[in-house]
Amino acid sequence: MSKLIQLSNSNIMDLPFAESYKIKMVELIKKSTREEREKWIKEAKYNLFNLKSENVFIDLLTDSGTGAMSDKQWSELMLGDESYAGSSSYYKMKDTIKEIFGFDYFLPTHQGRAAENVLFSVLIKQGDLIPGNSHFDTTKGHIEFRKAKAIDCTIDEAFNTTTIHPFKGNIDLDKLEKVLKNNPNEKIPLIIVTITCNSSGGQPVSMQNLKEVYALAKKYGVIVFFDSARFAENAYFIKKREKGYENKTIKEIVKEMYSYTDGMTMSSKKDAIVNIGGFIGFKDENLFKQACIYNILFEGYITYGGLAGRDINALAQGLKEGTEFDYLETRIEQVAHLGRRLEEYGVPIQLPYGGHAIFVDATKFLPDFPKEEFRAQTLAVELYLEGGVRGVEIGALLADRDPITKKNRYPKLELVRLTIPRRVYTNNHMDYVAVCLANVYERRNKIKKGLKIIYEAPIMRHFTIELDRI
Ligand code: F0G
Repeated sequence: MSKLIQLSNSNIMDLPFAESYKIKMVELIKKSTREEREKWIKEAKYNLFNLKSENVFIDLLTDSGTGAMSDKQWSELMLGDESYAGSSSYYKMKDTIKEIFGFDYFLPTHQGRAAENVLFSVLIKQGDLIPGNSHFDTTKGHIEFRKAKAIDCTIDEAFNTTTIHPFKGNIDLDKLEKVLKNNPNEKIPLIIVTITCNSSGGQPVSMQNLKEVYALAKKYGVIVFFDSARFAENAYFIKKREKGYENKTIKEIVKEMYSYTDGMTMSSKKDAIVNIGGFIGFKDENLFKQACIYNILFEGYITYGGLAGRDINALAQGLKEGTEFDYLETRIEQVAHLGRRLEEYGVPIQLPYGGHAIFVDATKFLPDFPKEEFRAQTLAVELYLEGGVRGVEIGALLADRDPITKKNRYPKLELVRLTIPRRVYTNNHMDYVAVCLANVYERRNKIKKGLKIIYEAPIMRHFTIELDRI
């Protein structure tokens, strides 16, 4: 009898991971043939941004504004208050921002780069230096547009895709201190910490690092802002990887993170799981007041900032849902699922897996390929041709030309980002993507010819660039 009990006990398994939602509405997507895709990509001038979305089977271009809202968010749309000034939607968002981040002052904006535009209009002038961890392209664009310079102080480990480090988004404190020490204080209007760090592979910044950066900034009398698009994913990684945070809730971790900053810019299209929206959070009333002027000029009145009341309601609800552990586990586990599949097929990717995307190492994928022929873009085109999967180049095209020398910049990492929209695809879709990429990897030695530029804009060229096969 006791043996039987023993036996049945040994068959008890740990419960497997499963999604923390079920699906109420679906959107149909369409497969295509390779011949059709050859034609479409040629018509798109080999720029994946130019493709019609209906000609894409699985769209991993971005996780920005592409998430699926919850039933609660859709309900909030109906409750939106469309008053021009002082709407209840505004106050709902104000309370949520206070509750989650602790800020007394905030300005809504229509998206993240609009928040950058408003804030930088107050803070940044020609010749300034803005240290940070691999600034995102719109952030860098807004800095360079003002003839200032973004200085990358990310730790060296971030630039080797196979080095395992739990917080590859961290700022190297020595690099940062050098910038702070060797330049006049009035030339450094702020430090920007991007959490998670998109450009270095969706990699998180540790609580310890946030704390130390803030202490260093205070020592030199410089303010810190967090570029917060994926702040909740960053908090999830802190909970999973940093000692002392295992038993804290995501909301507790977020509160502590934001005690080490003077403010935030936010693209709500990511971790607030809405299709449009952004905001700026401030500790300082004076800075907030100066920013109000530019918000009114560029975005709209200070209580709506380019958003409809219904958008603001959905955003406030999304901030609450986006900082729940179960949601974040579902999301980040799906990204990891794709990462594990690709590793099984031997495809070189950035390790550890990022929070919002898997980054394929195009340099390791196509090692003998001339960088002047845009290897990461070539790989992204091949992936589309293989199975209608749209990823995005994070490489030489995105790096743009040096604003002074006008020469192409070749970044340390050439990547193709497979960005997973929130609550949109299933793991079957992830398996499909992995096989597509494995097939391209299998025939990688036959990929000999790259791409040349036939048209490019003077700034942020990757969005509208036109290319042709060499
Ligand atoms: N900061 C980060 C870290 C971002 O990833 C983005 C956008 C922005 C700022 C700008 O926000 O798009 O709302 O104006 N990233 C998107 C992406 C576009 O695909 O990674 P936005």
